[in-house]
This record gives sequence, C-alpha cells and structure tokens, in this order.
Amino acid sequence: MTGMADAVYQQCIDPACAARLDIGEALFACPRCRSLLDVCYDWSRCRPPDALARFSARRSTPLSAAHGAINHSGVWRFRELLPFAPSDDLVTIGEGRTMLRRADGLAGELGMKPARLFLQYEGFNPSGSFKDNGMAAAFTIARRLGRLRVACASTGNTSASLALFARQTPTGSGEPMEAIVFVGSEKIAFGKLAQALDYGARTLQVQGDFDACMTLVRESAERLGLYLMNSVNPFRLEGQKTIMYRVLEGLDWESPDWIVVPGGNLGNASAFGKAFAELHELGLIDRVPRLAVINATGANALYELVNEHGVRYGGGAVDRTAIDAYFDRMTAEGRRASTVASAIEIGRPVNLIKALRSLEVMNGVVAQVSDEAILDGKALVGRFGYGCEPASGASVAGLRALLEQRVISPSDRVVCILTGHGLKDPGATVDYHAGTNESARSRHYANPPVAVAADPESLEGLLGM
Ligand code: F0G
Repeated sequence: MTGMADAVYQQCIDPACAARLDIGEALFACPRCRSLLDVCYDWSRCRPPDALARFSARRSTPLSAAHGAINHSGVWRFRELLPFAPSDDLVTIGEGRTMLRRADGLAGELGMKPARLFLQYEGFNPSGSFKDNGMAAAFTIARRLGRLRVACASTGNTSASLALFARQTPTGSGEPMEAIVFVGSEKIAFGKLAQALDYGARTLQVQGDFDACMTLVRESAERLGLYLMNSVNPFRLEGQKTIMYRVLEGLDWESPDWIVVPGGNLGNASAFGKAFAELHELGLIDRVPRLAVINATGANALYELVNEHGVRYGGGAVDRTAIDAYFDRMTAEGRRASTVASAIEIGRPVNLIKALRSLEVMNGVVAQVSDEAILDGKALVGRFGYGCEPASGASVAGLRALLEQRVISPSDRVVCILTGHGLKDPGATVDYHAGTNESARSRHYANPPVAVAADPESLEGLLGM
C-alpha cells in the first residue's frame, strides 16, 4: 500500500530510534523498541491546502456530487491535512459534523466574560462521541489493508464507534467487518454497552478493568488476526486531529488561548498536539494555543507524573525509569483507577509519551478534579443546554479549577471539548439529580423530580400563580 510512495510513512516517536516504517504495515508499536508510532508526512510532496476557506466551502457540495459524502465528513473535508489515502477510498459514516458553540451563559456562571468560552460538542457524532473522528481514519486503513476483524478494548465509547463503523464498512466480499470489543466487567455505561450489542459487535466482558482489557488485546491481537482500533493505532489519532481543525474553523483560524480536554488514554491530548505542531509547521496558524488536560482524581497518572514527579517530554528524552517506577508502584500497591467518569477510568494511559510531547508543544498543564466537581461540571453543561457524559464534564470542572488557580484568566479565549453525548450515561445523570445515595451538599445543580398527587388542587398548590 505504498501508493503515496515515501511521502507518507510511520515513524517511531522515540528520537533515539526513529525507525521508519511503511504505512502498509499494521503496527501498533515500533518493532524495534516498542515505542508508539506516528503517521508522518513529507509535506513538500503531499500538496497541503493553499486556502483554508476551501475546507468549509466543501460543506456546500451536493451530497450526490463527486466527493459529496466525504466533503460532508468533518474528518475528510480536511483531507489534505491527513493525506494517507486517496480520496476515492475513504470510509465515512457522516462523522465530525460538529461545530464550535459560544457558551456565554456557562461563561457567566464561571465568572468569565462573554465571547470567551466555547464548547466543541463532539457528542453530536453518529455514535455519540468523538471516537468517530478517529474511526473514519482507522477504518479507511483497515479496509485498504483488507482486514476483516477489527477489535478494541474500551470503557464504552470506542466499542460503540467501532461497532457502528464495522456495520457500515463492507469488506471486499460485501459482508460487513466483524467487530470484537473487550469491555471491563464492571463500569461500562449502559448507553454504550447498548450500542455495541445493538450494532452486532461480539462483546466480551473481561473480568477486570479497562487496563486489564487493554493489556489483553495488545497481547492477543496479532495472534488472533485482530486489527486493533484503539488509539495505539496511529491512524486513529490522525482522524482526531480534525476536532482541532473544526475548532479553528469556528474561530476563523485564529487560535484560542486554551484547549481544555479530559484525559483518559490520552489519545485526544496526543492528537491535538500533533495537529497544532503540523499546522504551525505548515504556516497555517501563527500561534499554538495552550493545552489543559484534565484527569479525574481517581485516575490521575498524567497529573501525578507531571506535577508530582516532574516528568517532562524534554524533546524526546523522557525519563522512562521514573515512569516505570511509578507504574510498578501502582501495581505493588494494588492501586486501580476509580472514578464516576467511567470513560476516563484508566490507570495506565497508553498514549502517555505522546501526551507529554503535546504538553511540550502546547505549553500545557495538567489538572485533576474530584468526582463531585466532574458531576457538577456535567450538570452545568446540561443546564446551559448542551448535555454531555461525566467524562466531558471534567473539561468544565477543570476549567473552573484552573480559573480558581489563576492559571487561566477570565478574559482568556477558552475551548472546552465535550467528548461524549449526555445520553451515553443516563444513570449518572439521574443519580445526580434524583439519587439519594450521596449527600445533597455535593450536588450543586441537582434538579430532582417533584412527586405530586394526581389531582388539580395539588398541581395548583405546586404551580399556581
Ligand atoms: N471522554 C470520553 C467520552 C471518552 O469516551 C474517552 C475515552 C475520553 C474522554 C478520554 O479520551 O482516551 O483520548 O484521553 N474513552 C475510551 C473508550 C478510553 O474506550 O471509549 P482519551
């Protein structure tokens, strides 16, 4: 699959190794040193876009016209910025048709000025989360490689997205691909499990948590002939770069001051840094925004490594001994991730090194927020008319914390990424508003239902003017 000759290749991210590999090789780690891989472009041979306006203009292509479907894809209308496959061979299910929304009401609640806070609502994807951006790219490669069985470990959203794309991506024989998903036995939100089951994925509930699932699929994928669709697949992250392109498009290609994103397996954080590094290199933006990655306190490996152990990317000279020692201690102490935001309940983020690189490229910070703050953040998003799942509420909770710490200023232009739809985890929402199992004190925006007798007098007593 070397149609693009050597203009596009995979490369080991460790500068000391820097092994260069063909994009036709299905690899999820460097065969030499086991580091992560990047998809790299020789831009001088890829013809990057001459005018940014062209990306937006594509949305007005008639659907029936040539390239109609891919011009409506929020991933592929930016195809010159992820040019690893020809435009007549791109997989799309209508992903990435999301946009940046100004959130003045929420800004006011957080003490920010109007026109300073924006929400990038990725819950509005076909499977209800940002994962669809990455799957469009990874499925394009899976199909080009002729892979028939695709798999992932998941806290829920990756499996939902994988299952949906597999259903809609015919193989050479016309049959859909087979999706196999590995989910933890405990915490997957019902909305997400429902999707995987409904879309016909073989759903394996592994005894253990996400980290156990992730280890299991990484160890077994090759032996079982499974093409891995987690974010260790570097093409996934190519698709997720487009979240930033749409943010920039919403701001007329002027960088905001901050991008705030929840951190789980750290795929988004990794993709965003790569997107900005490339845009800057191509001279398409003047300034790279700062990145704030938000961990849940119960799943805070990045936070602890950066803020307590001083781990930095250092131009690629990462202190891997410190990182290994940290995770060894985690194992020895039997410490496991635990948070109400099940999507980011991850103890050992696979994209850690790439995320450290993004923090360097984007002069980033890492914050952590409690489960109570996450649920309040989520409820605030709901109250102002958007709706998201708990993990996404972490962005808003993190923004609030960073405003309090004066890291972010109320006059900064900030974009919070809302990663998943509110209906993914209705249990968490109903518990927050109507539940009795937690002290009401920790739920600042609860809106419990009110019981009323079925007679007009009672109603009048309650609602009468
Ligand atoms: N928000 C949501 C809604 C997610 O589903 C995830 C990850 C994240 C944030 C974290 O993103 O991994 O890029 O840092 N969910 C994965 C899954 C792990 O399996 O669905 P990240």
